[in-house]
Amino acid sequence: MNRTMLLSFPCHPDLKRIVVLNPKGGSGKSTLATNLAGFLTSSGYPSALMDFDPQGSAMRWLQNRPAARPEVFGVNACRRGNSMTRSFQLQIPQHIRYVVIDTPAALQVQDLVEFTRGAHAIFVPVLPSDIDIHAAARLMADLLIVAKVSRRMGRLGVVANRVRDNTLGYRKLKRFLDRLSIAMTGNLRDSQNYIHAADQGISIHEMQPSRAGKDIESWKPITAWLEARLGTRLTPRDLYQPNSVSADRCPRTSSLAPAGARSGGVRPASGPARSSGPAA
Ligand SMILES: Nc1ncnc2c1ncn2[C@@H]1O[C@H](COP(=O)(O)OP(=O)(O)OP(=O)(O)O)[C@@H](O)[C@H]1O
Ligand SMILES: [Mg+2]
Repeated sequence: MNRTMLLSFPCHPDLKRIVVLNPKGGSGKSTLATNLAGFLTSSGYPSALMDFDPQGSAMRWLQNRPAARPEVFGVNACRRGNSMTRSFQLQIPQHIRYVVIDTPAALQVQDLVEFTRGAHAIFVPVLPSDIDIHAAARLMADLLIVAKVSRRMGRLGVVANRVRDNTLGYRKLKRFLDRLSIAMTGNLRDSQNYIHAADQGISIHEMQPSRAGKDIESWKPITAWLEARLGTRLTPRDLYQPNSVSADRCPRTSSLAPAGARSGGVRPASGPARSSGPAA
């Protein structure tokens, strides 16, 4: 990865950076990142989603997002073009105060240093399997020792992902984090709702509570932790909008903005994002 000015771009001086990383593939980075961006924006905090992964999962989620939903501002950090400077390509409009950064698998140690520098919150999703816990041990060492992410500052939030209650894997992950004195910020169930949310470009919080209630509930410790980290009130509320285009019935493409139209484009925040306004 070209590390020149990896995270240097014009933005509001108070922009809060939320980074999601884990070099282990398939741990849930894009799932966590898109759900965070959707949650923040639809809670009234216009947010950007920056995708550093050439696979473009976060950008795909953005393209699936219904036009009726509050807009998440997309930045495709992998796109290379000669026509604009790198910092222009990554710039974030001044009205946006939160950026969620999705990172690719197989990040090198030096990339970890770059991505965590100046980050206000660092989320690490980990699957509760032996292989993933083993890889996480290496990652934690790199974060604590090389990237100097101090445990005392509390920027590090580990999220157990695809958890099936009280399995051996989950208990092992918990024990592993306890030994390192790293708190588990939350755990997300293995749930088809995440697959549906990704297909529809929404966060789990924007789904019908009767369908995704358990998953919405599981986010409360995570958003409470983020609230403490960012000093922003993020009280989860019912973000499902039965009177607008139903998220659960939304067609995948027909009512959506054309692919790429929003990536790097600016559209004023609408819906709840405008009415409640950012606190920052
Ligand atoms: N809690 C969950 N329940 C069910 N499926 C999940 C959950 N979290 C992630 N998934 C699914 O697992 C797959 C991998 O998740 P995701 O793409 O978020 O991982 P990633 O870490 O971003 O992967 P990569 O390293 O390839 O970028 C996806 O198909 C996603 O929908
Ligand atoms: Mg991904």
